[in-house]
Amino acid sequence: MTTPAQSKPIFQPNRAFAKEARIKNMCEYNDLQQWAHEDYEGFWGHFAREKLTWSKPFTKVLDESKAPFYRWFDGGELNVSVQCIDRHLDSRKNKAAIIFEGDRGDKQIITYLELYYNVNRFANLLKNEFNVQKGDRVVIYMPMIPEAAYAMLACARIGAIHSIVFGGFSAEALKDRIEDAQAKLVITADGAYRKSKPYMLKNVVDEALSVGAASVQKVLVVQRNFEDVTWVGGRDYSYNELVVSQSPVCEPTPMQSEEPLFLLYTSGSTGKPKGVQHNSAGYILWAQMTMEWVFDVKENDTYWCTADVGWITGHTYIVYGPLAMGATTIMFEGVPTYPDAGRPWKMVEEYKINQFYTAPTAIRVLHKTGENEPAKYDLSSLKVLGTVGEPIDPPAWKWYYEAVGGSKCAIVDTYWQTETGGHVVSPLPGATPIKPACATLPLPGIIGEILDPMTGEKVGAGESGYMCITRPWPSMIRGIWGDPERFVKSYFGDVKQNGKGVYFTGDGANYDEDGYITITGRVDDVINVSGHRMGTAEVEAACKKHPNVAEVAVVGRPHDIKGESIFAYIVLKGEDTMGEEVEMVKEINKVIQKEIGNIALCDDIVFVPGLPKTRSGKIMRRILRSIAKGEAITQDISTLEDPSIVATIEKKVKG
Ligand code: WT7
Repeated sequence: MTTPAQSKPIFQPNRAFAKEARIKNMCEYNDLQQWAHEDYEGFWGHFAREKLTWSKPFTKVLDESKAPFYRWFDGGELNVSVQCIDRHLDSRKNKAAIIFEGDRGDKQIITYLELYYNVNRFANLLKNEFNVQKGDRVVIYMPMIPEAAYAMLACARIGAIHSIVFGGFSAEALKDRIEDAQAKLVITADGAYRKSKPYMLKNVVDEALSVGAASVQKVLVVQRNFEDVTWVGGRDYSYNELVVSQSPVCEPTPMQSEEPLFLLYTSGSTGKPKGVQHNSAGYILWAQMTMEWVFDVKENDTYWCTADVGWITGHTYIVYGPLAMGATTIMFEGVPTYPDAGRPWKMVEEYKINQFYTAPTAIRVLHKTGENEPAKYDLSSLKVLGTVGEPIDPPAWKWYYEAVGGSKCAIVDTYWQTETGGHVVSPLPGATPIKPACATLPLPGIIGEILDPMTGEKVGAGESGYMCITRPWPSMIRGIWGDPERFVKSYFGDVKQNGKGVYFTGDGANYDEDGYITITGRVDDVINVSGHRMGTAEVEAACKKHPNVAEVAVVGRPHDIKGESIFAYIVLKGEDTMGEEVEMVKEINKVIQKEIGNIALCDDIVFVPGLPKTRSGKIMRRILRSIAKGEAITQDISTLEDPSIVATIEKKVKG
């Protein structure tokens, strides 16, 4: 499909900023990219030696012999907690590593030396009291408190594989993830605060363990003095009580480059969530390099990413990336609009934050509910603003640039995924001329190309294609836990070059006349709700758990704040249910809440007498998507099993 390449306004990097930046101009960018193209292994080998602290040097940069099961930096050994802590102690022991701000405004500063002792004690606790060994899986179900970071780094220190489950997931969803990973320990907290109200996390763990998750032997609970917490003797242990007697020194376990660091479950277009596996050396290398290049954090800067550690953004850009480079990272428990939509700007002023990284959905909420809030605060410390998670729309971009950034900050629109480990397409704040709502160019070392899925060839300017990465890169997904076939099929099955599968992201994209990349969104059955990925198959499976639901099809619908919202078409069992629709909507959403969590609730549920299907029984989602968007149907419907159903559904949706 050809659409005319649109010219967008261009914003040049701030000159004073560029002078001090790590990558200062497009010449330097081009040189790096050329180096990677001409000597790929030389490029990566150089940075792996320069950036990482190895206990044993690697002997091979890249092993492609078992593609797509690529191996990086074989022969080498290191420990990720050493990258993030120990090696900074000489020069930064009294520097703030983590600044915590709680939902209710409580504050805590943790220096690198304190982080070292806290993580070591935590690691000893896991080893000595819970017999956690290298390779064991540990599920972390925690609020945004410093102990969540300690838990991650403690696992890394002893070679245990952490799997964080976002605190908004339900007991069922938690159980499924524990079972898939066969975790032996769950680390949680008694509760969290959200808009000053308690949210009881441990209760959810109790519920998950009461319905399954038999692999779990013990539960470790960080106590924050919430009341009415039930305790199961012999299973539940208090972190606060046990940690004090642990030695503050724990030898890091040497990890081979390709030994796993963590699993993180994410939605795919089909089936259950997949346990995306990241390994030690490659992941931490790119986490650090992108922190340095894309945010250009300086020694005395304070950096804030508003994500939750339950998502990949929190892993790479709250914990691993900032700490690997020795930066000061903010951890914020609250929500950006509480107590009012000035909260983030108040924090920027107070902590003199230099880099601020958030999602378009948050920008839209802050814009809509607090358009004039930024002007009330001193935001002059800001240098770089980041966005992530979904395409940002031009009005939100403009407000972010002008009202928040004072028209002097670079906006880095960072495109990446759980599977890529770190950014892959993004502007560099001191080098890349920026166009609003455009992820611009692949980062140095990333061979990102938009390909025609039929031919595997690069598309021309203005043509739509599939966003692919045609060479392996160090922080790429290493596998789907327990399912190597699904890994190959999910990522290397759709686009081929010279008969060989290349990594396909699942996103559509196009080049403009300058070769800049604009990401247009998922081309598979994945919905992006407020920057969170939701598989339509998962939501459909949840709906089907309701006894009255016969058939269901779920699609995404554009939404002002969330980007996309979830829209379900449901065929009920039995005939005369029409009078009970309002009740049924509530009931079905209740089932979704129980099966997945609030993040998967449907904004629209429409009851229809049937779904548009081909004669072979395949549901034509594209038609349903068009109807949900209120678009005219352009597809040929004559080949449907029952073409008249389309008009019936349209009528129902228009109401
Ligand atoms: C999907 C990945 C990467 C961390 C947060 C989400 C979409 C991400 C952008 C962007 C347009 C984006 C893509 C991608 N996405 N960043 N800057 N512009 N789309 O991680 O849950 O793994 O989701 O988010 O569709 O595939 P995730």
